[in-house]
Amino acid sequence: MPSNVTPTDLTITPRDLRFGRGQAMKRYWLNDDPIATAFYNALSITFPKGEAYFVESVKNFREGAPEKLAQEIRAFVKQEVIHSREHVAFNRHVVDQGYDVSMLERHVDEALALTEGRPAIANLAATMALEHFTAMLAHELIANPRHLAGGEEQAAALWRWHAAEEIEHKGVAYDTWLHATRDWSRFARWKVKSIVMLATTWKFVDGRTRGMLELLRQDGLTGPRVWAKLAWYAIGRPGMARKIAGVWLSYFLPGFHPWNHDDRRLIALAESDYSDAVLPRAVPAPA
Ligand SMILES: [Fe+2]
Ligand SMILES: [Fe+2]
Repeated sequence: MPSNVTPTDLTITPRDLRFGRGQAMKRYWLNDDPIATAFYNALSITFPKGEAYFVESVKNFREGAPEKLAQEIRAFVKQEVIHSREHVAFNRHVVDQGYDVSMLERHVDEALALTEGRPAIANLAATMALEHFTAMLAHELIANPRHLAGGEEQAAALWRWHAAEEIEHKGVAYDTWLHATRDWSRFARWKVKSIVMLATTWKFVDGRTRGMLELLRQDGLTGPRVWAKLAWYAIGRPGMARKIAGVWLSYFLPGFHPWNHDDRRLIALAESDYSDAVLPRAVPAPA
């Protein structure tokens, strides 16, 4: 029977790892494929600002949270902060390839500007929706090795590590919301959560698609053939959008909770994959 609460024995562990420092990355680091590379590059550009927004949105509601949730919020914040640090490093590799990412950053700034002056609970609802997105992508990324197959080792390891931690903390924003809206009616919760998910999905898909098209334009790839390839990448093979569609819909079901589906086995699977790629820490020379 699916659970509608976070597992009581879940521990959220920030893994303070570094990837790709001091190493060169190819322009098309994922299988020499401009489309696949643009997908991950465009997503990564949004993370530092996006994750800072998630952290603020959740932190606004930590006051008065039960101890278990308060602990999970602290671990969530640590994980997101480390993710941002690693994506800043990854994004430097993208810029090193000659890409101008200012338009992609502007998309994020514009989206975040819309949230200013909004009630804090609306920002929490948007974070919860986007955390559902990252959890869906993370699940698919680890469950289906095809997505990152052929990618440069350090880059693929970064994405697997990030995905594992997104699965691990996927219930935190949701549980914070359940706590913050504990006095609301079920219908009011469902209505706000659903409307915000629809608006967030539109912004997310539109923003990332425009980001990918801009990076591809800088590669000299434009026009209907490129759009068709992009659509095939999303819906055909590897088909991320097709694979996550059902889980996206489940968000609107009355009994939804991110831990309806316990996919913690994927965390261990990802850890065994990326552990070989973790850069060794500098070991002090023996005296
Ligand atoms: Fe993250
Ligand atoms: Fe997250």
